[in-house]
Amino acid sequence: MKIFTTVEDMRAYVKACRNKDHAIGFVPTMGAFHKGHISLMQAARKENDVVIVSIFVNPLQFCSGEDYDRYPRQTDLDRRICEAEGVDAVFNPTVAEIYPKGFDSHVDQGELPSKLCGPFRPGHFRGVTTVVSKLFNIILPDAAYFGQKDYQQTQIIRRLVQDLNFDIKVRMMPIVREDDGLAMSSRNVYLGPKQRREATCIYRSLLRAKELIAKGENDAGKVIQEMRREIRKTKGARVDYLAITNAETLESIREIKGKVLIAVAVRIGKTRLIDNILLG
Ligand code: PAJ
Repeated sequence: MKIFTTVEDMRAYVKACRNKDHAIGFVPTMGAFHKGHISLMQAARKENDVVIVSIFVNPLQFCSGEDYDRYPRQTDLDRRICEAEGVDAVFNPTVAEIYPKGFDSHVDQGELPSKLCGPFRPGHFRGVTTVVSKLFNIILPDAAYFGQKDYQQTQIIRRLVQDLNFDIKVRMMPIVREDDGLAMSSRNVYLGPKQRREATCIYRSLLRAKELIAKGENDAGKVIQEMRREIRKTKGARVDYLAITNAETLESIREIKGKVLIAVAVRIGKTRLIDNILLG
């Protein structure tokens, strides 16, 4: 497995792959791998000749007061995981390599970033669209792999690819969960044992919603009320939002019909966790 830390070396490798007509599958990450990340690598491995994984904790997508400094970093272990998954190359640049002195251009999207997590994380999605555009330009992948765990992010990337004519297929893979239902996340390591138990209220609220809807409830307001009741049973949990939206536009809906997203963001102590399910 190759490891590249400079844009120049990464580009030379990509060029060689493209000269051989190899299809490149790309998995952008911030490292601290868990089975969710690994599922993306495995999908990329299955569907492409070459798999490239980027590991870059992107300062631009952390808002002030967020966890950039303490975000888990485990580069050696992550590189070994990539190797074990048959990844061909890891792109692991420094912050200065991606944002050299004088860097001053950003990629902005209008509507989707203003929904759901947007108001709670000002500037976050601008950081994501900017870094992902840069990574796409460096790696020139045929397909890029994202998780449903960050559904809003994946929708924003799909829009970005369409709007800026990136010739890249966006693949979204299902949410990988712990045995008790908690969606795997690099941030779960912040949770103490009690908080870890409390965090299970998130997926429970989604299952409760699913159950109500299966029984015929189609009033989004009522379903959200029930979800809130479920989460309130857990003392340590504070809701950022509970939303039922059109799965394409992420606009809130009143009546549940067609393809809908049910999305939750909850804080357990200082840790912000998100989860969602898609229905219809
Ligand atoms: P990161 O949080 O490291 O996630 C990398 C990818 O793994 C994302 O596409 C995310 O949706 C996916 N993922 C995370 N948890 C998952 C789970 N439990 N099941 C399935 N997939 C999961 O998302 C980012 O990094 C960054 O914003 C990035 C796109 C790399 C830009 O910096």
